[in-house]
Amino acid sequence: MTLDGTVTVVTGGAGGIGMAVGRHIIAEGGKVAVLDIDADRACDAAQSLGSSGVTTAGIRADVTDPESLEDGFRAVVDRLGPLYGLVTCAGIRQTSAPVASFPYERWKRVLDVDLFGTFLSSRKAAAMMLERGEGSIVTIGSTSATLPRIGQAAYCTAKAGVAAFTKVLALELAESGIRANCVNPGSTATGMVDLWSSPIESGVEDRIHGNLQRFRAGVPLRRLARPEEIADSVVFLLSPRSSYITGHVLAVDGGESII
Ligand SMILES: NC(=O)c1ccc[n+]([C@@H]2O[C@H](COP(=O)([O-])OP(=O)(O)OC[C@H]3O[C@@H](n4cnc5c(N)ncnc54)[C@H](O)[C@@H]3O)[C@@H](O)[C@H]2O)c1
Repeated sequence: MTLDGTVTVVTGGAGGIGMAVGRHIIAEGGKVAVLDIDADRACDAAQSLGSSGVTTAGIRADVTDPESLEDGFRAVVDRLGPLYGLVTCAGIRQTSAPVASFPYERWKRVLDVDLFGTFLSSRKAAAMMLERGEGSIVTIGSTSATLPRIGQAAYCTAKAGVAAFTKVLALELAESGIRANCVNPGSTATGMVDLWSSPIESGVEDRIHGNLQRFRAGVPLRRLARPEEIADSVVFLLSPRSSYITGHVLAVDGGESII
């Protein structure tokens, strides 16, 4: 078991991909702190993953709020022990709008959660890992980082930023033996799927088969990802099995971003 006794924070851990990551961490012998803006779902997730207070903890934290993160990470150490890992699954992908009429507040919220939230949680985790001289961070980007999506300027911008941010983080932490990598999932069957049917977005069929009019690439493997398939790669990069990999951006997307 590659994560034996180690403690990992999963932000957005009550969501579809976050829960799958939690299950994989537990299967590798690790402990999971589910940090999520939704307190009830964080506690329910922790309870369903393992023994709450022993191998799991469900804690409310908002990744856009430094004080909330400060309290959340302190609670993790108090309840589960010193931090080994961070996986940044907290993310939102709001409904589509073209740039010419993109509401500023909506733009700001997506950047706040998806990009600034990744910075704030990584900053806190990195400081704790540097004190101990070990650790591993996996950020969650998206194929949207490299594939422009009509109506998704904020999300694409945020996720491109996550990949660039992770590379700088990896460079800065490398000499302390701490690694940072990014996973870019393709279209994955979670609650986010519900947002794909707005007037200017494409539905599931367009996602899988592509649509030239919408400038959308299809998925060569011809299906959505299962959250477990994303979690497999995340936990590989989190664990010492990938001990010589840092600063890598791994597409887990059924071939969607092949060019
Ligand atoms: N599902 C997909 O197709 C897909 C594809 C590519 C990338 N991703 C990325 O994967 C990550 C997880 O997505 P998912 O599909 O599991 O979505 P999800 O909506 O199921 O989960 C997201 C979780 O983040 C939490 N969250 C939202 N705002 C937060 C905040 N401010 N602070 C703390 N937690 C917050 C939500 O409560 C939720 O539990 C996201 O970053 C998403 O952008 C998803």
